[in-house]
Amino acid sequence: MTAVNVLQRSVPVHEDDRDFADLKAIIKKKIGFNCNEYKQAHLKRRLAVRLRASNTTSYKDYASILLKNSEEPGYLKQVLTVNVTELFRNPETYESFGRNVLPNLIRSKESDRRIRIWSAGCSNGEEVHSIAILLLEALGSRARRFDISILGSDIDDESLEIAAKGLYKPKNIEKIRKERLSRFFTRMDDYYTVTDDIRDIIRFKHHDMISGVCLGGFDVIFCRNVTIYFDQKLQERLYMNFYNSLNDGGYFVMGKTETLVGPAGRMFRPVDLKERIYQKVKQ
Ligand SMILES: C[S@@+](CC[C@H](N)C(=O)[O-])C[C@H]1O[C@@H](n2cnc3c(N)ncnc32)[C@H](O)[C@@H]1O
Repeated sequence: MTAVNVLQRSVPVHEDDRDFADLKAIIKKKIGFNCNEYKQAHLKRRLAVRLRASNTTSYKDYASILLKNSEEPGYLKQVLTVNVTELFRNPETYESFGRNVLPNLIRSKESDRRIRIWSAGCSNGEEVHSIAILLLEALGSRARRFDISILGSDIDDESLEIAAKGLYKPKNIEKIRKERLSRFFTRMDDYYTVTDDIRDIIRFKHHDMISGVCLGGFDVIFCRNVTIYFDQKLQERLYMNFYNSLNDGGYFVMGKTETLVGPAGRMFRPVDLKERIYQKVKQ
């Protein structure tokens, strides 16, 4: 079946179901992206960006460009992985996390003093740095007595490299309060860099939450603005994985526009529904 769909900037894309299926198989082989589990409308919108840039209007032609042009897989990967993020993105969520989660979490950790947090789909690291700042502020002088690890994971290695550098342009830290800025960032020529207090408690690694091994032992998992691109079946599976990756009583922080669908919806208790913060209930 062939259809013509009008996508961004009115460039008509000739959609052929078989060509689309072939293209998805090539994408999987070339960049390891399992397109079938992504929302198909989102996928087509992202593909349209590269079709337009490659001056083609059919999936078949774009597939051969992807196979022949050695730079195209990199460009496509950049377009498929939406990396938009910022420090303290949705500040009200962090505010609620600092008020409703951190005091209880720290109290429950007074004896073993071990805190494990995972930012799944961390992009360029802003979420990890923001969590680290909040936690260090909440712990104050007690921080040194705690064994803290905040893991940021992503499938995009370029993002992970940026995250590990921990460098910010002045315009990216404009909204950071003065005392936070002077405590957690150091000026370096044209950039600000996160201090060693932060570096000491964070780490980044490549991990695909869809096909990678299930990680475990976390007190908190942040997974925000990632699953919106996945179909509902996959979302349900991932939320159950997160449930299993959390320690009893652990917390799950979702994106503001995401919904806790599937069986996991009955296995977490809401801590702040508006901010999509949940706590694992032991079954
Ligand atoms: C929009 S960013 C979200 C960043 C951050 N969590 C936030 O809310 O600001 C989405 C990130 O999810 C990552 N991502 C997409 N699919 C993934 C997967 N299967 N496993 C791990 N990360 C993934 C992308 O590479 C991208 O960096």
